[in-house]
Amino acid sequence: MKTVFNPEDISQITTKHRGSHGSLISILEDIQATYNYLPRQALEIVSEATGHSLVDIYGVATFYQSFSLEPRGDHVVSVCAGTACHVRGAPTILNEFERKLDLKAGKTSADRMFTLTTVNCLGACALGPVAVVDGEYHRNVTTRAVGQIVEDCRRTAEDSRSIKDSGLFKVEVACPVCNRDLLTHDHMLDGYPMVHVTASFGRKHGWMRFSSMWGDYRVESEHEAPDNTIIDFFCPKCHAELRSTKLCPRCDASMIPLFVRGGGVIQFCSRRGCKEHMLDLGD
Ligand code: FES
Repeated sequence: MKTVFNPEDISQITTKHRGSHGSLISILEDIQATYNYLPRQALEIVSEATGHSLVDIYGVATFYQSFSLEPRGDHVVSVCAGTACHVRGAPTILNEFERKLDLKAGKTSADRMFTLTTVNCLGACALGPVAVVDGEYHRNVTTRAVGQIVEDCRRTAEDSRSIKDSGLFKVEVACPVCNRDLLTHDHMLDGYPMVHVTASFGRKHGWMRFSSMWGDYRVESEHEAPDNTIIDFFCPKCHAELRSTKLCPRCDASMIPLFVRGGGVIQFCSRRGCKEHMLDLGD
């Protein structure tokens, strides 16, 4: 997530969604994902690029609770304040979150780690009190569970910090054929979205996800490939095969290319277990 506003980011986002159906919401989603809120300057650029009036854009931005016009913390905790949750003890749960986070509802902590909000009915009334933390629903929340939830968030934040301290850095990658994002916010690793592709070997075909941290080799896959297996990779959006003309300098298997947002290409070896990868940032 970026903390410094760069108009170039917004131009890239508007260009990416130009002409697509429902593009305004997609643009706002990408800006929200980039900065964790919608900076005013960003909305002005969107208005100019898309022809939508600022009034319309603010209308959309304020209609959906997933958008925020104020900077948000890395972790967003939302406690349902609907009637059913209220009678099931939501006020006590909210108080406990406020106490554990040392934060009033509607506020973001000074270190931008947490934002605590209340929301209207989340549609899970029978499971109240309900809280949503970073998009994950917690049902029948107790004051004891609040402590655990906050502790888990803090641990995730700690892990992310140690990744930063270790010199690893996040890369945002796209398909080299259709240029669509390959990061999935549905599957996070240490607080960062994973790289999602489709993989095929033998008769097996399924998803594969990698850490988006450069130098971090953690992989999850639908089918476990034995070491030394050559894997064919495909874009999950356009289904094009991802294969470079380059061969791995260590083992001669084909390299797999991915575009890097901001410029350059990452190439990694298609052989399971080979850690050869290279980052060409171009000129
Ligand atoms: S009132 Fe909380 S989910 Fe409906």
